[in-house]
Amino acid sequence: MRVFQIEGEWGMDHLRLSERPVPTPGPGQVLIEMAASSLNYRDLVVPNRGYGSHTGTLPLIPVSDGMGVVVEIGQGVKRVAVGDRVCPTYFQNWIAGEPDLERLTQSLGGPIDGTMAQFMCLSEQGVVKIPSAYSDLEAATLPCAALTAWNAIQSATSLRTGDKVLIQGCGGVALFAVQFARLLGAQVTVVSSSEERMEKARALGAHQTINYREQPEWAKATREITQGRGYDLIVELGGEKTLPQSLRCIRPGGTIAMIGILSGSSMETSLGYVITRQVRLQGVTVGHRDGFEAMVRAIDLHQIRPVIDRVFAFEELKEAFDYLISGAQFGKICIQH
Ligand SMILES: NC(=O)c1ccc[n+]([C@@H]2O[C@H](COP(=O)([O-])OP(=O)(O)OC[C@H]3O[C@@H](n4cnc5c(N)ncnc54)[C@H](OP(=O)(O)O)[C@@H]3O)[C@@H](O)[C@H]2O)c1
Repeated sequence: MRVFQIEGEWGMDHLRLSERPVPTPGPGQVLIEMAASSLNYRDLVVPNRGYGSHTGTLPLIPVSDGMGVVVEIGQGVKRVAVGDRVCPTYFQNWIAGEPDLERLTQSLGGPIDGTMAQFMCLSEQGVVKIPSAYSDLEAATLPCAALTAWNAIQSATSLRTGDKVLIQGCGGVALFAVQFARLLGAQVTVVSSSEERMEKARALGAHQTINYREQPEWAKATREITQGRGYDLIVELGGEKTLPQSLRCIRPGGTIAMIGILSGSSMETSLGYVITRQVRLQGVTVGHRDGFEAMVRAIDLHQIRPVIDRVFAFEELKEAFDYLISGAQFGKICIQH
């Protein structure tokens, strides 16, 4: 079968189109013919060893997110049948419950082989059925970006109708967060570097947008929006450069859902804000299968459509990664297998 894999040495320069034998599903396993993948920022970091040695050994098939059709099942499989359209879960071992180290280690696209393969052989426990209303490409965007946003909005806080949420950027996680926050009836502010993307974010449902390039001290610009009260929830995707601003505009008792470190991972800031405002800094790392299934029920009921920017062919993976690096996208970059 056709695969992309990092071969020989770590680094994106060692990404090669290659061949592997088609796996045979053992007891409790399913064979999935992959139909689509989608890219996340993380897929750029893993091949370059940006998360260290936790991301497996070589050769490694990259990319965590995708969808496909079950074409064969092993002995005893009950959760799915041949012909079902499924997404592999990001954390193969996290079915439900609290996170623990064992549940958070087995992620696709490193250390486990990812979705850039013609076939994947996985435990029946590590897949989620996808409603027919969603195209293959739309379904492929759900496992990481959507579930992370879902957990930031649904689980990291007890968001209520009329609450105020600030979301950073117009990337994959951010746009799902906009849609999920609107679903709960929250007021949404998006900070972004691009006027064009801000216009699209407003069309998607953002009530206000602030250009963080033009207003690097954007926390000040939010005072009018929140009438000085601050945000109930901030979806923190920037990290180093953005957290100091977030701490200035979170309301006392509010939650900052710590998800990304796009602007750096170390920082100096006044921790006094965390204490005096009783801020909750809540890390979010994707989520479990039960949450994925709950999210699928909600988006199916409310017909929430993932925002797809551009689709590349399987063999154009390198071009797709270059496009992700360019930062020009509004929404998800997908791969048609
Ligand atoms: N914890 C988890 O489970 C989890 C899951 C998924 C992703 N993540 C992390 O979340 C982050 C976003 O991932 P993604 O896949 O959504 O990325 P993405 O699609 O590549 O989005 C990147 C966007 O972030 C915005 N951005 C960059 N620097 C910013 C800054 N200083 N202030 C505000 N916005 C900024 C930009 O928006 P504009 O162009 O509009 O300025 C850019 O388009 C990454 O750090 C990723 O590793 C974490």
